[in-house]
Formats: sequence, structure tokens, C-alpha cells
Amino acid sequence: MRTIISPSILASDFSMLASEVQSLEAAGADWVHIDVMDGHFVPNITLGAPIVKALRRRTALPFDVHLMITDPEAYIPAFIDAGANLICFHIESLSDPAKCVALCREKGVKAAIALKPGTPAQAVFPYLDDLDMVLVMTVEPGFGGQSFMDMSEKLRLLRAEINRRGLSADLEVDGGVTDLTAPVCAKAGANVFVAGSYIFKAPDRKDAIDRLRIAARGAAQ
Ligand code: DX5
Ligand code: ZN
Repeated sequence: MRTIISPSILASDFSMLASEVQSLEAAGADWVHIDVMDGHFVPNITLGAPIVKALRRRTALPFDVHLMITDPEAYIPAFIDAGANLICFHIESLSDPAKCVALCREKGVKAAIALKPGTPAQAVFPYLDDLDMVLVMTVEPGFGGQSFMDMSEKLRLLRAEINRRGLSADLEVDGGVTDLTAPVCAKAGANVFVAGSYIFKAPDRKDAIDRLRIAARGAAQ
């Protein structure tokens, strides 16, 4: 299974986003994780489609857009037009998941569903066949820099179901991911690793990304 490192720019210096994203490209990141928060679904506000569009001109890295918003259905088209490559929305939001997936599919953009720590794996089973990825949150969404919550059981259930159906969906973890916690997730079936603080607080971003990748690969199923 491929191992993907998707650094979260939530932990970057927002006053210089273009060079922050370019530094990730130089450091060997596979994707860029972009956290969109609306102050309703989560108690924090970050950025919207105009910023994604501006960044699109500055890097060739795929944009992994994590929508922590109440009504993703209404905004997915704007994020697709802005240049998202993968859109991840929460099953706990008020929108119709099948409709959200269809909006992505129509435009050839990858679709993913995210689960908060308290939401069971089974919530996503009805949509699994149509998804490119499932995101298992390992913190409560809303803020970077929180402590990792072990979601191994949920990851195992999801990976087993993905395998049982013969699917090739990726399994992403997000929140408190480090070289110590990534192996725990990889062992349980995760193959996409979002990390904000771990990468942006490191003295050397390339070194941090390499260490994360090696740690995850070493523990992969
Ligand atoms: C939290 C966001 C995460 C966050 C991760 O709601 O979805 O992507 O940036 O940050 P760290 O890696 O610092 O926990
Ligand atoms: Zn995120």
C-alpha cells in the first residue's frame, strides 16, 4: 500500500502561505492538507475557496481539502473550481453524503468522508463503494496541536471492510500525528498521514517528512 504524507498548512505561517506551501513541495510532501473551518461545524474559522485558488497558482502538489463546515454541499463546487484535487467532508454535517460525492465525481475530483472520533466506522459503510478515501480524525476537529487519540479499532474495521469489498480506498488519519503515533495508525491500516505541528515545528521539514514516512512504512500492514 502506498504511504502518503499530507502536511496541514493550519500550522504554517498564514502571512506567507505561498512560500510555506512551496517549502513543503521542496521537502518531499505528497499532498497539501487544507483545513477549512466555518465557525459553525467547529468553533474556529480558517480560510475559504479564494485562498485555495490563490495557492493553486503556486504549487503543483495535490490539494487535500478537509471541509469542517456545516453545509459542504453548498460549497463543494467553489472548492472544486478553486483547484481542490480531493474533497473531504464530514458525515456529521447536515448535507446528503451521496450528493456531495456526486458533486465531486461530476468534476473528476476525488471524494472522501471524514469521521469525528465519536462516530463509528459503520456510518460510512453505505457510501464506501463510491469513496476514494475515508478520513479518521484522531483529535476532535477544530484546532491543530492537540493530543492524539488512538483510533486503531475504527481503522481496523474500515480497512477490513475496504479489503472485504475489494476496494482500493485510502485511509487517512488527521490530528496529533507524529513519528510515534503514525506507526500505531499504519499498523491498523492507515496509509495517508496528515501532520501539522509535527512538520511545521520541526527544524527541518524534509527530515520531519522523511521520518514520518519511514515510521509509517515500517509499521504498515
Ligand atoms: C484539526 C485539523 C488538522 C490539524 C492537525 O481539526 O483537521 O488537520 O491541522 O494538526 P496537528 O497535526 O497539529 O494535530
Ligand atoms: Zn484536517
